[in-house]
Amino acid sequence: MIKEITLQELNPSEFINEKVSEIQNIAGKGTAINALSGGIDSSVVTMLGHRALGKNLKTVFIDNGLMREGEPEQVAGFFKKLGVEVEIVDARKEFFTALKGITNPEEKREAITQTFYKNVFGRIVRESGAKYLLQGTILTDVDETVAGIKRQHNVFEQLGIDPQKAFGYKIIEPLIQLRKECVRKVGKAVGLPPEQFDRIPFPGPALSARVIGEATPERIDTVRKATAVVERLLKNTSAFQYMAILHEDRVTGMRDGKRDFGQQIEIRCWDSKDARIAKPTRLPFEVLEKLADGILTEVPGIVSVTYNIATKPPSTIEAV
Ligand code: XMP
Repeated sequence: MIKEITLQELNPSEFINEKVSEIQNIAGKGTAINALSGGIDSSVVTMLGHRALGKNLKTVFIDNGLMREGEPEQVAGFFKKLGVEVEIVDARKEFFTALKGITNPEEKREAITQTFYKNVFGRIVRESGAKYLLQGTILTDVDETVAGIKRQHNVFEQLGIDPQKAFGYKIIEPLIQLRKECVRKVGKAVGLPPEQFDRIPFPGPALSARVIGEATPERIDTVRKATAVVERLLKNTSAFQYMAILHEDRVTGMRDGKRDFGQQIEIRCWDSKDARIAKPTRLPFEVLEKLADGILTEVPGIVSVTYNIATKPPSTIEAV
């Protein structure tokens, strides 16, 4: 059982000092590796690891082909300014090969997990001689996985999987006692600027969690374009998270006077504190109209745009 550190209990600077010495004690003079996605959890872990190990921490950004527009370069450029070198590893082909033909949500997650930890990371870790992987698992990831709601891609020990045996390296998880609000506080205290610690959450399986059915390069590209519109138009709301989802079912539409059996995008925008429960944000209708306009003009093949009005539970935040 993991003991939660609540917002009331958290003292960010004490937490940082404790975790930095914990990482130093475990890793010693050895090399550790961490994968940065640019999300708040992996960004905070990168900063903690960098403080603890300096040059002995190798930070990689794994380009799985499922990230948002320009994300790999943006994230690497951003951390360079903070003094952290990030190596971008192009693994797009491996991920799309692993995802080929898979439509079941849990199988999709499993394919990503195996490709990430076993193939891509396994190789990087072997080549670098690192013995430790630092990662930003948080308490909500563990809860939902153990409850069998969703297999979060980064949870192992709580499911009885020994990463040392399964993948050949040990995993260090400094944020495992925290939920999102606390991670943001630590992010601020560890020197991340607001645009980084205030970023909306983005799931580990990235845009493949936003495509219902097979995650092909073409379908990921469609949801990537829709995501860019949604993020651009909703960035000034105070919502917890917002996203575009590509549906599998097609519907009849019309374009240039002809029938177009086209694709559908669902928009979700959530009010929530910690992702455990959530409500759809009451967006003004004018904003919804702008979203529809933007998506219909900028994303080829879309003929229908809907807004989700269900709460979590019984919905979950991501669709897959
Ligand atoms: P759900 O969809 O379970 O998401 O309500 C809760 C929060 O966790 C974020 N998140 C993930 N969600 N798989 C997910 O389905 C993951 O691997 C993952 N990683 C993070 C999600 O975006 C939401 O904020």
